[in-house]
Amino acid sequence: MTRPARHDVAVLGCGLMGSALARRFASSGLAATAWNRTPGRAEALASDGVRPAASVEEALGGTGLVVVCMSDIDATRNVLAAAPSLSGLTVVNLSDGTYDDVETLACWLGEHGAQFLDGSTLCYPGQIGEPGAMVAFSGPSSVWAEHEATLTLLGGRSRHVSDEITGAKSLYLGCGAFFVTALTGFVESATCLLRRGRTLEEVRDTTLHGLELLRHATEEAAAAIESGRHETDQATIHVFADGVRRALGELADSGVDLSVMAAVSGKLDAAEHAGMGRLGYSAQSLL
Ligand SMILES: NC(=O)c1ccc[n+]([C@@H]2O[C@H](COP(=O)([O-])OP(=O)(O)OC[C@H]3O[C@@H](n4cnc5c(N)ncnc54)[C@H](OP(=O)(O)O)[C@@H]3O)[C@@H](O)[C@H]2O)c1
Repeated sequence: MTRPARHDVAVLGCGLMGSALARRFASSGLAATAWNRTPGRAEALASDGVRPAASVEEALGGTGLVVVCMSDIDATRNVLAAAPSLSGLTVVNLSDGTYDDVETLACWLGEHGAQFLDGSTLCYPGQIGEPGAMVAFSGPSSVWAEHEATLTLLGGRSRHVSDEITGAKSLYLGCGAFFVTALTGFVESATCLLRRGRTLEEVRDTTLHGLELLRHATEEAAAAIESGRHETDQATIHVFADGVRRALGELADSGVDLSVMAAVSGKLDAAEHAGMGRLGYSAQSLL
């Protein structure tokens, strides 16, 4: 059952990310409406061509597609519960939550006659709509096929990753953990180096070079994990373990909290103790 559409899409939640999503839909030529708990944030989008809705009911009344982007899935559910009917609607949830939250929301929406896709934004608001931006979606392929043209407007790398409803959150949480660990490692080592008198330009340039190496190392590690072959003729776990121990010793007196580096050192020590010292980095996947 499809609702008569006066708007192509409604966005609920006009925080930093929700506002970027609504603006992108509108700038792509869609009729977009938006609602926010604090009305001023929806009203501020009017100058970008997004029609502010005064209530959830008004936002959902004229559309078949609603994208929800709030702090968490509790907020998504509480706000949708205020709607008179969700029947015939497709709900796309981009609010963060656990796998349980996603599965519970899927059941609840099913009971209320709504179709559901879950998703996660793997980018910043300022990148929404850019060729390199990615929003990952999961849920039934048939629902994705209905809304693919609209949802891929959000970024050139946006895609349907899985029919399994928790697929997008799973990738987001796992790859997000990698992202924040790497970023925390950068802040940690950059702070040490700046205190040691290196310039920010030196640190930045050398780190960006390191990121290119990391791309290469990630491809190699992925290939080794896939093949199950962890021998290396490039750099052994022992070499990495020695290097990190040395870095920890040298940087310890900088007064910086080196807990990311210390955790890496602990993992490499464990791999050495398990007899993996002569293997490549990816062998740690066997621990
Ligand atoms: N920003 C990013 O770079 C980024 C990247 C990846 C994922 N995300 C995810 O995207 C989601 C939104 O992030 P954001 O950066 O837009 O956050 P934000 O700027 O803090 O906005 C939060 C939004 O949630 C609304 N909200 C919170 N609790 C609510 C409730 N109980 N009822 C109704 N509305 C409620 C807020 O409404 P009010 O304005 O009324 O407070 C606001 O619209 C989060 O799950 C976040 O983890 C963000």
